[in-house]
Amino acid sequence: MVLRRTKMQSHSCAGAAGSCTLRTVFLGHFSLPEALQDAVFAAAANAQKARDAGRHPIDGTIGVLTDDRGDPAHPLIFPCVRQAIDAMYHDWERHPGFPYSPLLGVTAYREAMKRLVFGAEATVASISAAGGTAAVALNLHLAKLMGIGRAILPVPTWPNHRQLLEGSGLSYTEIKGAMPHPPSPEQLLAAARASKDPVLFLLQANAHNPTGHQWTKEQWRVFADGVSGSAHIVLLDCAYQGLSEGVEEDRAPALLLREAGVRLLFAGSSSKNHGVYGLRVGWACAVVSSPEEERQLEQWYRILTRRMYSTAPTFGQLIVAKVQEEYQEEWRRQLGAVRTGTDRKRRVLRDAFPEWADSIEGTGLFTMLPLSAHAIARLQEDDVFLTHDGRVNLAGIPLGRFDEFLRKIRRVREGITQSPAGTPAG
Ligand SMILES: Cc1ncc(COP(=O)(O)O)c(C=O)c1O
Repeated sequence: MVLRRTKMQSHSCAGAAGSCTLRTVFLGHFSLPEALQDAVFAAAANAQKARDAGRHPIDGTIGVLTDDRGDPAHPLIFPCVRQAIDAMYHDWERHPGFPYSPLLGVTAYREAMKRLVFGAEATVASISAAGGTAAVALNLHLAKLMGIGRAILPVPTWPNHRQLLEGSGLSYTEIKGAMPHPPSPEQLLAAARASKDPVLFLLQANAHNPTGHQWTKEQWRVFADGVSGSAHIVLLDCAYQGLSEGVEEDRAPALLLREAGVRLLFAGSSSKNHGVYGLRVGWACAVVSSPEEERQLEQWYRILTRRMYSTAPTFGQLIVAKVQEEYQEEWRRQLGAVRTGTDRKRRVLRDAFPEWADSIEGTGLFTMLPLSAHAIARLQEDDVFLTHDGRVNLAGIPLGRFDEFLRKIRRVREGITQSPAGTPAG
């Protein structure tokens, strides 16, 4: 069937606080708002095209951990994850098959996540989710049920936060910091004060995507003090526990907010820190004050997951639970090695471009290079792929290709500086 555009009209995208106006496109049979590409997946698809054509691109696009092939289609498999799978699946006679999990997910996985983030004794309502993405979505829907109508969103952020907010029907206000730094706690608190109703703060816990910069301990404390005692809700998106500064260090904001008595929702992902991206393993949770509150919230989690996609996939939850129960030491060591590797690459990049040190400092997988769109497009012609905003996934580029990476960036910058006046600077 050939789709034919015949007519267009303007369409405001639901929930976005003025950030997005989509055209409605009248096609052969249907009319609907024009569909925009997902920025990260579109950049990743360009790199994949280069691989499909037999080339060997430098791919810093999608946020996965790779081995020395640097191919996100074959991400790093943690040896402890491989061990857990081997142990589970060596005996098909005793294999459990592929059952549905209960609506709340696999208990052993939910317990493992609770131990990792808040400690075994914590009182939380929780549910397994199809990745960190669904964990954010479930909690946004839950917040909507709690009467929240608007979110405060520090930017830049993971682009999918906007789509998830729009999908949940919340409107949102974007607050920008002095790049590459996040907006200050005071800026966010002032935005909340300007609202007559309680708001939801959608914050990243650590390893900030895309900048690598997140608040200091002191800033988290200022924020926690400012929100404590209010009706505002914080949704902490934690997709990189153990990949920023360490497993314990990376949960510190969650513990601090809980201790300050903040109304706290939490969205965890096991995708990156266990390397199980496509298995879709995540965990949504709410810190509660009583067993009755836990029961009520979990009943809502059941309803919400049933509405969205029913139960989360089981296989990955079983793997992560087994790793956490039986191979935890190995997991921490292997995760530490990944962190050391990305820290080292960050240093190499910073030493090569000291004029960009402020941007490149930070933690986790990502940094944003202050390159123009023109420079990013030129790099792409040279088979170096970043996202459109200059975000680089350091864990996607093997250390052995860093010399080539740096050389190509320099070449593009020099080429642009020497090109005729009017061309954007690199
Ligand atoms: C900030 C942030 N939140 C959530 C996620 C969701 O991760 P997933 O759904 O793959 O577990 C990501 C993944 O890139 C992320 O960067």
